[in-house]
Amino acid sequence: MTPETLARLHALSFTTPRPWSAPEFAGFLASPFAFLLVRDDGFLLGRVIADESELLTLAVPPDRRGQGLGRALVEAYLNTSRSRGATSAFLEVAEDNTPARRLYAAAGFAQTGSRRAYYRSPEGRYLDAVLMARPL
Ligand SMILES: CC(C)(COP(=O)(O)OP(=O)(O)OC[C@H]1O[C@@H](n2cnc3c(N)ncnc32)[C@H](O)[C@@H]1OP(=O)(O)O)[C@@H](O)C(=O)NCCC(=O)NCCS
Repeated sequence: MTPETLARLHALSFTTPRPWSAPEFAGFLASPFAFLLVRDDGFLLGRVIADESELLTLAVPPDRRGQGLGRALVEAYLNTSRSRGATSAFLEVAEDNTPARRLYAAAGFAQTGSRRAYYRSPEGRYLDAVLMARPL
């Protein structure tokens, strides 16, 4: 997927946090620490630095949801993180994002903390970020 395609698909999935631009995706993809996983039109961007892996973003287009693509991407992310030498994985997710929080919990992530008023919705509402992590 090109940075432009990633930005287009990301914009279909996110308002909070705001969608990432094509140059932002290009910047991540240029990093040797980052990796992109793709299933159909769904994608996941991860990054392993030393023994820690971060799930940077994950998006499945609205018309492809509920078919196991998100779960498959998270499983592939865990395997790729291990093969790159990570021993733990972490992520941030908006507190009101129930589908993603359920998906991550089902994949073995547990809440480790939260960041107060970390995101701002397009309507100006402040939302906490939930921090989740799991050993690999
Ligand atoms: C979160 C997201 C990636 C899930 O993708 P998906 O392909 O629909 O997920 P799957 O079909 O693989 O579902 C896997 C699990 O996720 C959870 N889940 C998915 N959609 C859900 C929903 N609408 N409500 C509650 N739980 C849900 C469930 O635990 C589900 O397992 P189950 O089917 O056994 O109940 C997708 O909804 C999305 O792209 N959302 C917008 C972007 C986003 O929030 N990204 C993650 C934050 S970084």
